[in-house]
Amino acid sequence: MLTDPYGDEQLVELYDGDNEPRDDHAYYRALADRVAAATAADRGGATTIVDLGCGTGLLTRALAAVPGRRVIGVDPSPTMLGFARRQPGADAVTWIDGDASALAADGQADLVISSGNAMMHVEDLPATLTRLAAALRPGGVISFESRNPAVRAWEQWTTGVTERETPFGPLREWMEVTAVDQGRVTFDAYNVFEDGRQEVYTSVLFFRDAEQLAGALEASGFGEIELLGGWHDEPLTAESRLIVVRARTEPR
Ligand SMILES: C[S@@+](CC[C@H](N)C(=O)[O-])C[C@H]1O[C@@H](n2cnc3c(N)ncnc32)[C@H](O)[C@@H]1O
Repeated sequence: MLTDPYGDEQLVELYDGDNEPRDDHAYYRALADRVAAATAADRGGATTIVDLGCGTGLLTRALAAVPGRRVIGVDPSPTMLGFARRQPGADAVTWIDGDASALAADGQADLVISSGNAMMHVEDLPATLTRLAAALRPGGVISFESRNPAVRAWEQWTTGVTERETPFGPLREWMEVTAVDQGRVTFDAYNVFEDGRQEVYTSVLFFRDAEQLAGALEASGFGEIELLGGWHDEPLTAESRLIVVRARTEPR
């Protein structure tokens, strides 16, 4: 069985510094603003937003800092979620340990997002999307990003050893891709701390092309599917690093 690739307390402490928000957070925040404005116009009342695979919760807490929102952060990693729960502003979020199956199928959410390629950890995408569709209201919006397999990013992932300073002392790191099988990419991330402690985490990521993503969305009850090539609605091409997905549950 795979261990949690986000299971080390010290590496989780380093996560936000290593993954500084860029256009991705701006995109998801602007989308939340648009959905909240439409929700207020249509129905009044609070907007409910689910952040699946919320990790350390940096984006989740930013979304919850806007008044008039109910924000739910879901993540299966107890270490990531434990860190998220300890951060300033965490009280404004409802944190749920688990994956999409832990969400109530109550058709209440206005928006589901999943950032940081978290959806690539999901093996059975239609099953997860079906859960998310059940959590969303009719006409609710889903958005997430997924790396474009055409760019074959994994070919750059096997690296030599690098060393850097961290608050926990020098850290030596490297990665090794161990298997590539039809978009299923397995890699080991090595982390060696100053005292010799070595943490090796095996991750599996599922690269899906536009056809696979659209097929999974359609099979799960989503329509109005948009597959874009970046955070500014660029058209999707073979060179696009990311596929940015937006869709809606069918209106009743
Ligand atoms: C690269 S992190 C992204 C975290 C955060 N969304 C961000 O943008 O920084 C991927 C996250 O996906 C979570 N994850 C792994 N498998 C998952 C699953 N089946 N469902 C939901 N989240 C999952 C991990 O625990 C991890 O916190």
